[in-house]
Amino acid sequence: MQTEFVHIPVLLAEVLAGLSPRPGGWYVDGTVGGGGHAAAILEASGPDGRLWGGDQDGMALAAAGKRLAKYAGRFELRRGNFSELREWLGPGKMDGVLLDLGVSSPQLDTPGRGFSFQADGPLDMRMDDRSRVTAAELVNGLEPEELARIFRQLGEEPQARRIAERIGQERKLTPLRTTGQLAALVERICPRRGQPVHPATRVFMALRLAVNDELGVLRQGLVAAVDILRPGGRLCVISFHSLEARMVKEYGREQCRDYDYPGEVDVPELRRPCPPGLRAVTRKAVLPGEAEVKANPRSRSAQLRVYEKV
Ligand SMILES: C[S@@+](CC[C@H](N)C(=O)[O-])C[C@H]1O[C@@H](n2cnc3c(N)ncnc32)[C@H](O)[C@@H]1O
Repeated sequence: MQTEFVHIPVLLAEVLAGLSPRPGGWYVDGTVGGGGHAAAILEASGPDGRLWGGDQDGMALAAAGKRLAKYAGRFELRRGNFSELREWLGPGKMDGVLLDLGVSSPQLDTPGRGFSFQADGPLDMRMDDRSRVTAAELVNGLEPEELARIFRQLGEEPQARRIAERIGQERKLTPLRTTGQLAALVERICPRRGQPVHPATRVFMALRLAVNDELGVLRQGLVAAVDILRPGGRLCVISFHSLEARMVKEYGREQCRDYDYPGEVDVPELRRPCPPGLRAVTRKAVLPGEAEVKANPRSRSAQLRVYEKV
């Protein structure tokens, strides 16, 4: 049973370099988690910088509140999705916004949250326990074709169809209620054969992304984050998953262009000049160094992108 909320913030020095917090500045952490990045931003923007921290997970907010207590009076926390940042904070006022995507270590490591196949727990995977749909509902309720689509598109699982069909057969006998049941079933369908990575890794990742609609809200979150920045304000986004990274990169590219075009396809002859909304501060994604990956293996797939609002 997890009693303490321990999450090591990734790419911390790089995020601070990207946001360059200053005294009196106004900052937003849309994924405040355990408050690791937020504490560093408050420290660097002292004595009077302010921070608004949001998270859809109540457990994370409680932990962030404790972690940030020494900065009382300089921060505000709120439970909510980062896709709603504009409704909360209004347009054009913030000096910096951080989105550190995905789940935190305590979410992954608490069996009762159902994110991990390392320990048995209910098949839940909701970051926001007020939302309706759990992983168990998807696994037991969706048509096998739809499950296969999720495993293929969100998990890039090559055996998506086989796994989905077997789930369809098994659940007629016994509904799949726990992470252990699902992991064991996937392992029976795709035996491990000495592979270091558990065969259920991609299926779990896909279900987590689907339960929390992580790709669906990401685009809205990026738009909202840019909206609440003042011109010259900085946006830092840390992604961990290739589909998230692609979406951030594409959004950045689209906003950094000095033209747009009608319809879906960029036909050079139809381009119309339009001022860019963002400037890329880092030409390429910033990755953790060897020392960080060694000290915190969960940072290994992190990618930071930094933009400035024009
Ligand atoms: C990687 S952790 C952030 C850790 C944090 N930077 C720290 O230093 O402790 C990601 C956090 O974002 C939250 N989260 C993910 N997607 C979200 C969304 N769409 N809206 C609000 N919070 C979200 C998760 O609940 C989790 O607490």
